[in-house]
Amino acid sequence: MSKVTLTVIKADVGGFVGHSSVHPKLLEKAKECLLRSDLLEDFHVTHVGDDINLIMTHYHGVDYESVHQLAWETFKNCTEVAKELKLYGAGQDLLKDAFSGNIKGLGPGVAEMEFEERKSEPVIVYMADKTEPGAWNFPLYKIFADPFNTIGLVIDPKMHDGFRFEVHDLIESKRIFFDAPEELYDLLIFIGAPGRFCIKSIFSKNTGDIAATSSTQRLNIMAGRYVGKDDPVCIVRCQSGLPAVGEAVEPFANPHLVSGWMRGSHTGPLMPVSVDQSNPTRFDGPPRVVGLGFQLANGKLIGPQDFFADPSYDKAREMANDIANYLRRLGPFEPHRLHLDEMEYTTMPQVMAKLKDRFVDINDQGEVAAGID
Ligand code: F6R
Ligand code: MG
Ligand code: MG
Repeated sequence: MSKVTLTVIKADVGGFVGHSSVHPKLLEKAKECLLRSDLLEDFHVTHVGDDINLIMTHYHGVDYESVHQLAWETFKNCTEVAKELKLYGAGQDLLKDAFSGNIKGLGPGVAEMEFEERKSEPVIVYMADKTEPGAWNFPLYKIFADPFNTIGLVIDPKMHDGFRFEVHDLIESKRIFFDAPEELYDLLIFIGAPGRFCIKSIFSKNTGDIAATSSTQRLNIMAGRYVGKDDPVCIVRCQSGLPAVGEAVEPFANPHLVSGWMRGSHTGPLMPVSVDQSNPTRFDGPPRVVGLGFQLANGKLIGPQDFFADPSYDKAREMANDIANYLRRLGPFEPHRLHLDEMEYTTMPQVMAKLKDRFVDINDQGEVAAGID
């Protein structure tokens, strides 16, 4: 049997209401478009916050033009519905007018992997809103390299060799591989800076098989700074020599801080939620993550199992709300507000230009109260 491909493509083509969620009519339209195609073996349409997620299986491999085009046309059709309903930011993630070979670089986010479907193939698709691709660094590190999270690294002979991490430098557009556990400290110096270095994929050192991949893409760099926090997706394969499902969902019990809350310019806790609860509300947030599990059966997506719709994540949500309360009290101060270099947009240049003549050398002995009556 040929290898199966699991492709997840996401885009925000209009929010309901504001940037909080997706209108059901858009999800219906997306399903209708994918149903019409004979390219796919199976699909599941869902959303997290204001992003539509197309989870698709097929036998055409990664970067397959027609599958990417199908996703593009689907988002275009959803945009038409968004325009009719005057939804917020209709078509916002479709940055180009026309499709050109591969959906990467045109706005939507893509995570896809091709593999031999095992006797039993449990996979988890993680999807986040109001954050950036580097948000996966912390949980992926915990899942695949931290024995305090993943006991399989210690006691499962098939995992004991560890994993190989492919890390991308999103600014320089370069990639590098690290072996864990041997190179943990080298790995951490980079992935601890998730605004620039992101884990793209992870491979089992035991089998060489792909174990995880994310939608990490080069950030748009405009006017010397990066813009556009790409709400990211990530696929993790589980069990039988890979992390157990329980090990793969464990890091989300401790909501870590991520960039991308309100106006893409604030830090907030990543709150694990069910699909139904994935509607960023308070201060356009806090950032959300959904984890949907599927068993693959000859390319069919059996599921989903909505992992964070579980009482064992109630405390994580409570903790995220406590962290959110604490951070919100800081208002416009860092580190709630992102560092100047990482803000999605800022009025700093205009304010600076307006006040430039009032800035004088610190050593100039001017009148202390100049300008004050
Ligand atoms: C969108 C987001 C939101 C918006 C905010 C302002 O992903 O993070 O917080 O940035 O609602 O949106 P505009 O500028 O469109 O009014
Ligand atoms: Mg939006
Ligand atoms: Mg979004």
